[in-house]
Amino acid sequence: MTGQVSLWVLRDVRAMDPARGLDQSCDVVIDHGLIVRVGVGAARDVAAAPNARIINAQGLWLLPAFVDLHAHLREPGHEYKEDIASGLAAAAAGGYAHVCAMPNTSPVNDTRAVTEMMRRRAQEAGAAALHPIAAITRGLRGEHLTEMAELREAGAVAVSDDGHCVQSSAVMRRALEYASNFGMPVMQHAEAHELTVGAEMHEGAVSARLGLRGWPRVAEDIIVGRDLLLAEYVGARYHVLHVSTRGALQLIRQAKDRGVQVSCEATPHHLLLTDEALVGYDTSCRVNPPLRESADMLALREALLDGTVDAVATDHAPHSSLEKDCEFSQAAPGVIGLELTAALLVPVFGAQAAGLHRLIDALSTRPAKIIGIAPPAIAEGSIAELTLFDPNERWRPAETGLRSKSRNTPFLNAELKGRVRMTWAQGRLVHDALAGSAGVGGSGDGTAVVGGRA
Ligand code: DOR
Repeated sequence: MTGQVSLWVLRDVRAMDPARGLDQSCDVVIDHGLIVRVGVGAARDVAAAPNARIINAQGLWLLPAFVDLHAHLREPGHEYKEDIASGLAAAAAGGYAHVCAMPNTSPVNDTRAVTEMMRRRAQEAGAAALHPIAAITRGLRGEHLTEMAELREAGAVAVSDDGHCVQSSAVMRRALEYASNFGMPVMQHAEAHELTVGAEMHEGAVSARLGLRGWPRVAEDIIVGRDLLLAEYVGARYHVLHVSTRGALQLIRQAKDRGVQVSCEATPHHLLLTDEALVGYDTSCRVNPPLRESADMLALREALLDGTVDAVATDHAPHSSLEKDCEFSQAAPGVIGLELTAALLVPVFGAQAAGLHRLIDALSTRPAKIIGIAPPAIAEGSIAELTLFDPNERWRPAETGLRSKSRNTPFLNAELKGRVRMTWAQGRLVHDALAGSAGVGGSGDGTAVVGGRA
């Protein structure tokens, strides 16, 4: 059905685009992939036509589509966990129009050939857009820098050794200097490996109780502190991946105040969970960096609200049951996130308009700016990159029904409130969970009319 539709009419939708100061119940019209009208009554005179789909969207939210700075799509090399097509389909179902793919694939994305292959596969998939993040160092070994000029030319938007941390200060300095020549931020997985050998979870009272080896906060803080000094010294852009400690947040806040070009992201799991979630040795809660204590979680929430945390990033890290249905000490770290992030975070931050607007900014506008792409916008003349969200739908992510190939999330079967119903990416409808839902009706002239909520 969606194949023939070229005119989309959203009536009475709550359109929110904080970057434009927009939060209004209005109509939005999308014609051949472009937003052509936004405003109260803007769709009044749009006549029903065979190529049109009219959606009575009262009670639904229209948002600029999301941009994920941090996902592991596992292709090439580990396609049994995820591949580019399944990862981008999951992204579309989660409201994402753009996804950055980390380079810890097999082979590592440290060459033009891998970067180009990933982009080709994404084009074939035709869902959300993929932006490769190339490695900082060859083979993620922390020694020799990659050919960043070539990687940039091939389409990389940033560099990172994620999963590994660049330990050498000299290599990190050169990476910052080199990447800045090509306008790319260096994205650090901040972990002093000497301090985390054999670590299984956050080091604290809970790890002592469970008898698991600890990953102390200071292992993150040391690297963030060092890197901020280096970034300031050489005048380069630096991004902290999955920040997890209140100490690192404090360092980042101070550096921002001094004018250092630093940005950072937080994941849904670090914003929602603490090390207490590991009490049952639940391998789905094993992540790197580990879930911290409630003081860290609350500091992250505060930092998201005040803008110290620029972006929410999923760190979507699919693993199969082979890597997760095992002893805790053997389990691979990581959780999936692309399909759940909005539903998980809107109830936490959405109670007040200011929090909701900041969350939308952190899911869409800010991350787009960090990787230097045009931020999705709800504005006449903009390409349609939009997420239609139902804040009231209750659902449970189940074994079946997720687009990702993997199921490693502690939120499987949890009751969530709020769900992405449609996503447009690059002017195309790439996810449609309205068609076939209750309230869908035909108008008799080929126009589909879908009821929202009164
Ligand atoms: O939990 C994690 N999983 N953290 C990382 O840094 C890597 C990721 C993965 O690739 O599975």
